[in-house]
Amino acid sequence: MTTILRIDASARDTGSVSRGLGDTLERRLVAATPDARVVRRDLVAAPLPHIAQETIAGYYTPADQMTDALRRATALSDELIDELMAADVVIVTVPMYNFSIPSALKAWIDQIVRIGRTFSYDGSGFTGLVGGKKVYVVAAYGAAGYAPGEPFAAADFLTPYLRFLFGFLGMTDVTVFPVEATTAAPEVVAANRERAEQAIAGALAAA
Ligand SMILES: Cc1cc2nc3c(=O)[nH]c(=O)nc-3n(C[C@H](O)[C@H](O)[C@H](O)COP(=O)(O)O)c2cc1C
Repeated sequence: MTTILRIDASARDTGSVSRGLGDTLERRLVAATPDARVVRRDLVAAPLPHIAQETIAGYYTPADQMTDALRRATALSDELIDELMAADVVIVTVPMYNFSIPSALKAWIDQIVRIGRTFSYDGSGFTGLVGGKKVYVVAAYGAAGYAPGEPFAAADFLTPYLRFLFGFLGMTDVTVFPVEATTAAPEVVAANRERAEQAIAGALAAA
């Protein structure tokens, strides 16, 4: 059994480029993996709460000192981490909002980045504890020019951030499918989507 965890973050359901390309990616992955099971986390249809005082207290409380209140406050984090750990493949579909990720995705990240569970610290360095996964990121940008070396590269706090974050947790096998200029004229959008679809097909054929 191959478990695919799909995480969607666009506030748009209809017309979302990242979700649309995520559908293509998911379809191709499932077709290539007959025993695939897809687990979905739609962070907009079912928004996650932000972490709070008690959640953070629970993160830093040793297991043998946890109270019922702290266990309740970290129960969702436990569930999301278990879900991530159980996945073989992770698909994240994400739009750029204000040069970074949507807050819906940040809420998920704050629930799953947790000392002693998904990373450790030994006093001198950090170790990621979430290894052995393939991660695909479909990233939709309204403007263009975010690729390395291009004029807007320094403004891309989406893809470099997610690469760093996943790497920090031990997920270093990350493939990103960017699609830019999604707010341009329809023919430009169609051409860019087509290019991204081809990149997805090519990456999966080579995998
Ligand atoms: C609140 C908001 C903020 C946005 N900020 C940016 C931005 O900083 N840079 C950019 O290139 N596009 C920006 N966009 C455009 C989106 O990245 C673009 O429309 C993208 O296709 C959205 O993803 P979706 O099609 O999956 O919904 C923004 C869109 C919204 C709604």
